[in-house]
Amino acid sequence: MTYDLNEPAADHGLSLPGEVHVAADVDDLYDDLALVFTSLALKADDERGEFHIALSGGTTPWPFYHRLLIDTRFRSIPWERTHIWVVDERRVPDDDDLNNFKSMRGSLLEGIPTPPSQIHPMRVMKDDPAGLYEVELREAFGIGELSGVGPAANPGAPRMDFVLLGMGGDCHTASLFPNSDAIHVADRWVVVNEGPNVTPPDRVTMTYPLLNAARQLAVLCVGSKKTEALRRVAEQMKSGPDPVNVPITGIQPTDGELTWYLDKDAAGGGNL
Ligand code: 6PG
Repeated sequence: MTYDLNEPAADHGLSLPGEVHVAADVDDLYDDLALVFTSLALKADDERGEFHIALSGGTTPWPFYHRLLIDTRFRSIPWERTHIWVVDERRVPDDDDLNNFKSMRGSLLEGIPTPPSQIHPMRVMKDDPAGLYEVELREAFGIGELSGVGPAANPGAPRMDFVLLGMGGDCHTASLFPNSDAIHVADRWVVVNEGPNVTPPDRVTMTYPLLNAARQLAVLCVGSKKTEALRRVAEQMKSGPDPVNVPITGIQPTDGELTWYLDKDAAGGGNL
């Protein structure tokens, strides 16, 4: 059962930025998101002949990734023309259990017909993983030589069709942690984020300029453990975004849409 999404946010108390989709249980939530994902994939394929997605790590998305893989209702997804990017990665070897791409490989990537050349892990153990990823983005999106300081100075930031984000208890998203250096980056698409305010290990992460260029951004939160952080976001938004202390409020799509996908528990029963 899905709550009536057309009712004003105030009616269900979810004063989050963007659209809010609350499903009564997790199973419905993954179904709802998978249906939206499939629709976006077909639209992107129809309009541009390719579908670029950026996926997050953490634990919440795995059942969703697996559902995309095994549920025949979603078999129309044009995986052959999909590019799969990673929102962020931990600076650990590929075979480390902390490695997000390793988990994505097991839950989705090994089962879909996406050509390896269109699957883009972050090469985090290389010397300049962020620079390498920016070059890969430039090549895949056909963006020429970059002018200005850093790729984000080039107005044509790559536009992902769909970005799946999670949110930690400290309201971080991607690897944009409160008071961490990457929060302040405005002239790069990808950076290394490290230091005392980054939950170890060191990270490589997409930045706000790249994330906010996306057409569709989905934040997936499941379970009552996310309620307090969601409440904090809703409270913060009453006085406006504060990316430094509440990083997910820095997700403000330039010319796209942000939608929160919550189950009833995460949404505090619908009264954040
Ligand atoms: C990561 C993710 C991170 C994640 C949140 C939520 O690399 O860990 O990109 O931003 O989405 O920490 O994680 P859970 O889904 O495990 O709660």
